[in-house]
Amino acid sequence: MKKIIVFASGGGSNFEVLYRAAQNKVFDGEIVLLVASKAGIGAAEKAARFGIPVFVGHGAELVAEVKKYKPDLICLAGYLKKVPSEILDICAVMNIHPALLPCFGGKGMYGHHVHEAVLKSGAEKSGATVHFVDCEYDSGRIIKQELVPVLPSDTPETLAARVLKVEHKIYPLCVKEFFERFK
Ligand code: GRF
Repeated sequence: MKKIIVFASGGGSNFEVLYRAAQNKVFDGEIVLLVASKAGIGAAEKAARFGIPVFVGHGAELVAEVKKYKPDLICLAGYLKKVPSEILDICAVMNIHPALLPCFGGKGMYGHHVHEAVLKSGAEKSGATVHFVDCEYDSGRIIKQELVPVLPSDTPETLAARVLKVEHKIYPLCVKEFFERFK
């Protein structure tokens, strides 16, 4: 079975979706560790409930902890920090972004900032993007995108909720396809 480490900074709905997908054998892998950017975040509470160990830390300590687990894949799920390059060197890292990259990405483009920018632009579509992570923010190769409409009545919150639904749909599929391809 493949080993997955999830990195999160927030509530952890994508983490939970990946956990449930692993439980339901959507892919042949298990989440062996949650890396949390700080203690007490929703994702860390969820991990505790699921019996998944949580690591909080950064820099050399983080690199050492990740290496211990020998992961096959790292999934960023709302992780707001940069991943150390030593980790990118040893393992494939995916991220999910709540807009259609390459637009509305990059430093500072996270959470409501993304959806505010989409609404301000007048775009008629938004969506979710799963991509590989490289050493820049939101610039790695795109794996999958799914579109949602932007409605005239949308607020950043209503748009975020519509995008989040498709995030939850496509992220487990990307993990499944990744493991099928690199068996
Ligand atoms: C998601 O919108 C994801 O696209 C972005 O951060 C958010 C994380 O939400 N990278 P959650 O913590 O998974 O609920």
